[in-house]
Parts: sequence; structure tokens; C-alpha cells
Amino acid sequence: MENVCKIGVIGTGFVTKMMHIPGIAKTKKCVIQGFYDIKKDLAEEAKSLYLSLLEKNKNPVLDIALKTTKIYGTLEEMMADVDVVDICTPPKYHMDNIKFAVEHGKHVICEKPLAINWWTLKAYQDVLKKMKDQKLKFMLHTQGIWHPLIKEGRDLIASGTIGDIIKIRILHQGADIKKHTVNLAPLWDKFHGGGGALVDIGPHAFAGMWYWLGGNCETEAVEAKLLKAVVPVRTIAGVPNTKVMVDDDAHVTITWKDPAGRIITGDMEASWNKKDWFEGKPAGTDIFYEARGTKGTISFPHIVFSMAKPFGIAVAIKIVDNEGKVKLVKFPIPKKRIEDVVFFDEVADVVAGKVESRNDARFAEDMLQVFGAAYLSRKKGGKVTTLREFKDYATGIANKFPTAGEQIKGIIADLFDGF
Ligand SMILES: NC(=O)c1ccc[n+]([C@@H]2O[C@H](COP(=O)([O-])OP(=O)(O)OC[C@H]3O[C@@H](n4cnc5c(N)ncnc54)[C@H](O)[C@@H]3O)[C@@H](O)[C@H]2O)c1
Repeated sequence: MENVCKIGVIGTGFVTKMMHIPGIAKTKKCVIQGFYDIKKDLAEEAKSLYLSLLEKNKNPVLDIALKTTKIYGTLEEMMADVDVVDICTPPKYHMDNIKFAVEHGKHVICEKPLAINWWTLKAYQDVLKKMKDQKLKFMLHTQGIWHPLIKEGRDLIASGTIGDIIKIRILHQGADIKKHTVNLAPLWDKFHGGGGALVDIGPHAFAGMWYWLGGNCETEAVEAKLLKAVVPVRTIAGVPNTKVMVDDDAHVTITWKDPAGRIITGDMEASWNKKDWFEGKPAGTDIFYEARGTKGTISFPHIVFSMAKPFGIAVAIKIVDNEGKVKLVKFPIPKKRIEDVVFFDEVADVVAGKVESRNDARFAEDMLQVFGAAYLSRKKGGKVTTLREFKDYATGIANKFPTAGEQIKGIIADLFDGF
């Protein structure tokens, strides 16, 4: 219990209560030193939830938490106590909080996406550099890639099961999550999040693609196949007939280059309401991963009945070789939200220098460039758009405005022109 990693949580809304607190309350490697939220009552609720879950889980960390976990009145006080700052505020505030953490020499966990758009990072280049120079760790929280079965899929690919990847496609959707998506009005405001489903749920699909591709491929260009409000009018936060002003469904093709210079096509779908593939075919699940290589195809998840071990209902990774021979790699149905525990176990290991961060700041910045290029591609009628083209375009728009705030808004307004 001596060497637990001390975490300070900033922002105690939906994601903190749904994922971060339950995950940290299960690991024995971390303790939450305290919470900070601009709404103090929400921080109090978070603390009660944390202590009650530690107790429910019979987690010995409870002994420490009962003595240490507090509500902070200022971020300054938090910095004196923690190893890692866990940023769970809306994306608009991520970079300011990262700046504060880095200035105090703290490691950072940040909820996805890193910022509302790529241009935002311009004003924080010195912060990102300092983080790198001081070897402070950074982890973008996109929990899917911490799911043990997503890792199994990646390991199978890395071991050469399907040869060299030619094409990959990944779907992530959160259809009308009643407690969240349709209830949180700001999510549907492009100036709040930088866009719609693409920037909100797309980080999970993008992270999954990056991870299955080995975490060492470069993004080259993006094509928006479908990026629109498929349901143009809906009830949002209890208000009927609200006009949707952001994408609720995003089908985007990313051109990747692997370290050997081979081109890989990556189709991703991020959706708040539908789960259809590019062909319009229903995917049947909320997430779906499929990679086609020179020797065959791998896909996940498949729910199967198993006579062998594990007996009964199992979840499978399916491998089909080039002759059509099918192999199912079966696993017991995993525990719900296991990825949150794996994530926070790994946070402690990353901070201790035992493992590298799976998705560092470069990855997080890359993601924002890809999303920006996708929105520009949409504006150009679906034209394939390189990241360079996007960055030049965004710079041109930004140059029309005097302040960073106006530049960020100006770029968003421009990319969503005619939406
Ligand atoms: N990983 C996931 O699956 C997942 C799911 C939902 C949200 N998220 C991400 O989590 C982040 C938060 O989203 P949410 O849905 O929890 O939002 P939320 O609105 O429910 O919670 C945000 C909290 O931050 C607080 N806050 C706002 N500004 C602050 C500031 N400057 N300092 C301190 N506290 C501040 C608010 O009072 C609120 O309690 C976003 O980046 C979002 O994209 C991730």
C-alpha cells in the first residue's frame, strides 16, 4: 500500500462517475487524493461514490482514502498532493488544465479529445514541449483499447496471424445513451466540443484503429464518406424538435502508412444513432473491429456458443484465412467495464516507468488533425484531404482573426459552413 499512485481528479461529471471512479475504486495501485470541480456539490458526490465503491469492493485502498481523499477548493492545493492529474472536464478546458499540471511537474491523464480542435494546440506548444522535455507521462483516456480482448486482437495481428494489414474498419457507437448523449445539450454545440459524433465518440474508433495497427503508423489523408446529421431534428435535453447542428453519424476513411511505407485503408464509423457500415449493413453491435490482411481477416466481437472451454456463451475473435477456413478464439464473457480497471492499473505502471503510455500526446494531436481534415473533406464534398492541406487551410482561416479564441471559433464556423 506504500507506493500507490496518487491521482487528483478535475471535473466530476458523467465520465468521472461512470468510468474513472469505478475503475480507480477497483485497482489497488492508485488512490484518489481528491476531487476538484467548479461545482463543489458534484465533487462531494464523487467523493462519496468513491469511498462507497472502495468499501463495496473491499479494496484495502479504503484505509488510505479515508484519511486522504478530499475536496479541493483550488487546483493549487491539489498539485501539492498528487502524482497524476486526471482531467475530466469538457474538452474546451483540457489544455488549460494540462498546462497547470505540467507547470507543476505532474503526469497527466486527459479525457478524449485532447482539445476541441487542432488549432487550439497552437497556443500550448510550449506546454506540450515541456511535457515531453520533462518526461512527464501523458495518457489520453479512450478506454476501449484497454479492454483485454481488444488487446488479444492486437496481439493476434502483431503475431502475424493475418499477415500485413491492407484494410481496417472500426465502428463505435453510443446510440442515444439516455443518461448522456441526448441529455447533455452542450454536446450538440459545435463550439463546445468542436463538432459532433466524430469528435465525441470518434476518438474511440480512431484509438482502436491506431492500436490494432500497432501504434506506429502515420496518418496521411482523410475522406469524409458521410458526415452529417442523419436525424436532423430530435429531442435534446428534453427540448423537442431541436435542430441538430452537428454530425450525429460520421463515416470517415483514413489513409495510413505503416513503417514499411505500405498504405492501409482505415474505415471508421462514429455514431450517436446508427450502427450501419459503409454498405448500409447493420453492424449488430455497438463496437465492431475488423482487419483484413494478406493472409486473412480478423474481427471482433462475436457472441458464440461454446461446447469446449469456455463452455456456454462466449465471446470470440474470428479469424478467416484466405481459403475461407474459420477459427474462433473464444473467451469467457468479460466483466463489464473491465477496461476501466485495466486502464488505471496501467496508469500506475506508466507513472512508475514500467510501461510506455499506449496513447501519448502525439497520438492525441494526430487525432485532432485527422478530425479536422475530415470536416474539411466534408466541406469539399468528400474530397480526399491530406493533413497538410487541412493544417494550411486552418492556418489561413485563423489568420483572419486577431485572438486565439476567435481563431478557434472561426475555424469551427468555417468547417461547419452549410451544415
Ligand atoms: N471516455 C468516454 O467514454 C467518455 C464518455 C463521456 C465523456 N467523455 C469525456 O469526458 C469529458 C467530460 O465529459 P462529461 O460527459 O463527463 O461532462 P460533464 O458535463 O458531465 O462533466 C464535466 C464536469 O466538469 C466540471 N467542469 C467544467 N469546467 C470545469 C473547470 N474548468 N474546472 C473544473 N471542473 C470543471 C463540470 O462542472 C462538470 O461536473 C469530455 O472530455 C468528454 O469528451 C468521455
